[in-house]
Amino acid sequence: MSGSLLGKDVKPRASTLTAVTDQAGMLAVKVGGSLFSDKSIEGSLDLVAIGHYARVIADLHRSNSGRLVFISGGGAIGHAALRDIKDSDPFGCLPLNKALADVRWAWAQALAREGIKVLPLQLGAMSILSEDGTFSVQTDTVRKVLELGALPILSGDSVPAHDGSLHGISSDRVPQFLFRALGVPLRVVSLTDVPGVLLDGPNGGRTLDYVNPLQPEPAYKALWANSEWDTTGGFRTKVEALVDCASAGVECFILKGSTQEKDYRFLFSPHTQWPSRIRRTRIALPKEGM
Ligand SMILES: Nc1ncnc2c1ncn2[C@@H]1O[C@H](COP(=O)(O)OP(=O)(O)OP(=O)(O)O)[C@@H](O)[C@H]1O
Ligand SMILES: [Mg+2]
Repeated sequence: MSGSLLGKDVKPRASTLTAVTDQAGMLAVKVGGSLFSDKSIEGSLDLVAIGHYARVIADLHRSNSGRLVFISGGGAIGHAALRDIKDSDPFGCLPLNKALADVRWAWAQALAREGIKVLPLQLGAMSILSEDGTFSVQTDTVRKVLELGALPILSGDSVPAHDGSLHGISSDRVPQFLFRALGVPLRVVSLTDVPGVLLDGPNGGRTLDYVNPLQPEPAYKALWANSEWDTTGGFRTKVEALVDCASAGVECFILKGSTQEKDYRFLFSPHTQWPSRIRRTRIALPKEGM
């Protein structure tokens, strides 16, 4: 599996530090595959859950058109596409392209049913992986879609790299593309099946509230082994990608998605004003002078 897929080559870039603002400018929300798919079941796609999240995302979009980007996780379909690929074949991860196009399309249908304009976009058509593992990006497509008042639907993809090979890129890494394409202020919210980085193992009750991207070790120390169904580096890739974004001034959150939660509009507010029931891990540069 390639280093960029695992995000191994991601390092905080202290030279690009930018102050974090309290208010979200642009907001990217990822709905993790764990919330709409069971990775242990082939082809699993929970259309009822997708319908639920589509309603809340459509609601967010209507109140903040032009400021919201949606990212879908891969779930069983995405992770299966990377299983058993031959490392010797430089284009071996091509099937991920179709797999995630199918998942994006499921979201497009559900979101269009909510009456909003959406456009699924292919990451590999808008970016190239550079030698250092960062994305060199073509920025105008996402910007134009936002300007048109439509909701861009992004996901992982097979992305061409500087060396002529295709790399299977996790949806967790899409924010690393976005901050280069859209700049900051940008807030990234990764909804998943846990309420943040848990400090006391599976089913634990203690969440790491804050991660300084320049000293992220406590988050990495808390990680446990990935499920056998995972093919994109699991929670480590999520944390590494968000640490990378945060070190460039993006404000990032990991929280648990819930079908009980009907209104996610608080995600645009300063995090200090979020409802107290919302547990989360916040990954962001410390404020200057603190
Ligand atoms: N310290 C930790 N705190 C919280 N979760 C952790 C930790 N270490 C490992 N995990 C695992 O990470 C899982 C969530 O990541 P996972 O990749 O399965 O979900 P996802 O990103 O929402 O789905 P997808 O990859 O399909 O988009 C949790 O269910 C948990 O088992
Ligand atoms: Mg994942």
